[in-house]
Amino acid sequence: MELTPRLKAVADQVPDGARLVDVGADHGYLPVWLLLNWRIRRAIASDLRQGPLDNARENARFYGVSERMDFRLCDGLADIHPDEVTAVTIAGMGGETIAAILAAAPWTKEGKTLVLQPMTSLPELRLWLQQHGYAIESESIAREGDKLYSIWTVQGGEMSPLTLAELWAGRQSGDPLRGEYLDHILSKVTRALEGQRAAQRKDEAAIARLEEAAAGLKAMKEGST
Ligand SMILES: C[S@@+](CC[C@H](N)C(=O)[O-])C[C@H]1O[C@@H](n2cnc3c(N)ncnc32)[C@H](O)[C@@H]1O
Repeated sequence: MELTPRLKAVADQVPDGARLVDVGADHGYLPVWLLLNWRIRRAIASDLRQGPLDNARENARFYGVSERMDFRLCDGLADIHPDEVTAVTIAGMGGETIAAILAAAPWTKEGKTLVLQPMTSLPELRLWLQQHGYAIESESIAREGDKLYSIWTVQGGEMSPLTLAELWAGRQSGDPLRGEYLDHILSKVTRALEGQRAAQRKDEAAIARLEEAAAGLKAMKEGST
């Protein structure tokens, strides 16, 4: 069984020997792969919907890891007891959903390792984490086709404040895809800036923030090449 590069990058950040809950497990490939490769001790696959959870159960059976895996039909971490897990993965979901799931489970700040792979609203999620007692410990980047994904290891704790550019692109990392990722983020910020500048009623504060982010991203890019 092989994981896609995005899910493999998530798996790579899960601590060895973890008791894991994969929130929004869908097909369950991530926990199944981690169990199959003896990277983790136990896993809970949780999902909001019965269909995906049935798929995860079927995949666990197919790959012979059912005995080390549980299945929970619930919203986020609602039916997970903090003592059951040492690590939490939340991948392939929007940043707002991830923040809402963590907000409803403040125990995730207490000695757990979180591996997050948001699909949208990355700057907003980084800011939310910073403001709610979480620290982003490391970030990696994965490529699938022409898409780049950012995967974060997060723990409860203080994080020195992120600059505007860091909210967009994360802190400097030695990832081989970092230069490409910065180009991608810079073009996003540039497009947003052009949109703001072309608007009939200009939001000068938003323009100033985007200009600051763009300048910071350019400086990061120069530092990374
Ligand atoms: C796009 S899939 C991602 C699947 C997998 N984590 C991945 O990265 O490939 C999102 C899954 O999250 C589930 N989901 C969405 N919101 C959820 C929530 N609040 N709690 C639990 N599961 C949720 C959906 O039912 C769906 O199966």
